[in-house]
Amino acid sequence: MKSVIDIRQLSVEEIDGLMEIGRDIIANPGKYSEKCRGKKLATLFFEPSTRTRLSFEAAMYELGGNVLTMADAQSSSASKGESVADTAKVISCYADIIAMRHPKEGAPMVAAMNATIPVINAGDGGHNHPTQTLADLFTIHREKGRFEGLTVGFCGDLKFGRTVHSLITAMERYKDVRFVLISPDELKLPSYVKNTLKEKEIPYIQTRDLLLVMPELDILYMTRVQKERFFNEEDYLRLKDSYILTPEKLVEAKADLCIMHPLPRVNEISVAVDSDPRACYFKQVLNGKYMRMALILKLLDLA
Ligand code: NCD
Repeated sequence: MKSVIDIRQLSVEEIDGLMEIGRDIIANPGKYSEKCRGKKLATLFFEPSTRTRLSFEAAMYELGGNVLTMADAQSSSASKGESVADTAKVISCYADIIAMRHPKEGAPMVAAMNATIPVINAGDGGHNHPTQTLADLFTIHREKGRFEGLTVGFCGDLKFGRTVHSLITAMERYKDVRFVLISPDELKLPSYVKNTLKEKEIPYIQTRDLLLVMPELDILYMTRVQKERFFNEEDYLRLKDSYILTPEKLVEAKADLCIMHPLPRVNEISVAVDSDPRACYFKQVLNGKYMRMALILKLLDLA
């Protein structure tokens, strides 16, 4: 394992191994508090982020390591015209590992090809977000004890939501998983993701009606309509409130439904749902930190 750009670079066994480390970190945090002593993580975020960047930084601090961070894209040399390839070569001289977020699909891949240290994709455009997927998988596994046989509903912006694309490609590898894709017509899952489902004969349905499918779901993964990826404001305004999850809409849901959201939430989930024991989105945040700790350890050959 050198860099992680796409979740599919991690085999099912490697994901199991990372979750095992995650569980051990939770059980024995003291054992890990010095593991990265003397190591540096560089967080290069060319796109806004709160939790993902801070989650990486908190993960590195909890491992006893240090963090080099770029204040924001405007203050970096990228604004002078430096290429991603050069940035990766330069940062390789300062740090031991890079976490990169970039608005352009493929930019972290270019960084990985040019860096001499591991690169973790922390989100590239509408494409992929592997560490959010590790957080999501760990959450599902901790809540359900398995991946097999689950009916997983994705609701909202399935077109631009990179966390959706990553989680589907990760989960399609488990037996008897079924996907329910809930979105307005304009925000349907892109065909490149759907085609693999078809090729692998993985069952899925597409619908606009959340209430209709609610009783079938084991997991409901809500998403934010990705304002920053729209070409015009008018379309965004028309679609942004397509789905708002409220306690009333959960009346027909399973008693052990797991409600997820990668956050930030705008208003896809009413705050009244937060006190429902089925709401797992804040647990997801914590699980994300543990999985980032596990991944950093693995990529630095320290686990
Ligand atoms: C997601 C992202 O950046 O894709 N957020 C995150 O990393 N937790 C989801 C989103 O921004 O809506």
